Amino acid sequence: MQNDNNIRQINTKEFKTVELFQKKFSSFFGNNIWKSDEIKNFVTTKKNLILVAFEKDKIIGLAIFIRVGDGLDIYTIFVEPLFRNKSIGTKFLEEAKNFCVLNSLKNIKLEVNKRNELAINFYKKNNFFCVGLRKNYYGFEDDALIMELDI
Ligand SMILES: CC(C)(COP(=O)(O)OP(=O)(O)OC[C@H]1O[C@@H](n2cnc3c(N)ncnc32)[C@H](O)[C@@H]1OP(=O)(O)O)[C@@H](O)C(=O)NCCC(=O)NCCS
Repeated sequence: MQNDNNIRQINTKEFKTVELFQKKFSSFFGNNIWKSDEIKNFVTTKKNLILVAFEKDKIIGLAIFIRVGDGLDIYTIFVEPLFRNKSIGTKFLEEAKNFCVLNSLKNIKLEVNKRNELAINFYKKNNFFCVGLRKNYYGFEDDALIMELDI
């Protein structure tokens, strides 16, 4: 399948664009939308990782990773529905692995809703494995799976 999507780290001119992208998909991002100043601080001061995927000059995907100890946590990965199944999510993970190698980080971890089968399969296909369960993490009888990939 032809795929000319472009994936890279966010640049300093894109903080506002990423804020607007989250607002556009508020059904996924909810009320927890990061403002451009927060995004700036998150990547420039705290040396975390934000990746964006582009189709021409339009953002179609966003992935946010947080350094925790000697590992990297996935805060979120989101690909615009029209552009799913084109390996963009997988490329986000590949870039995150490269970031880990460059920064001597040893693993990538995430929490995912146990009901989000699509995402769980996506992570399993990318060699993540389940390392734990957090009961009622998202609410009553709404558990989180903890998944991990060693670098
Ligand atoms: C989970 C998510 C990020 C995956 O993104 P994606 O870009 O669709 O991921 P990929 O294309 O790399 O892989 C997804 C599937 O497409 C398949 N695929 C990958 N490249 C493909 C290609 N060129 N042609 C056909 N299929 C392909 C993969 O095998 C995988 O198959 P599966 O559905 O059987 O698991 C995306 O579905 C999403 O944004 N979901 C909503 C947000 C969410 O739940 N995020 C996770 C919790 S934080």
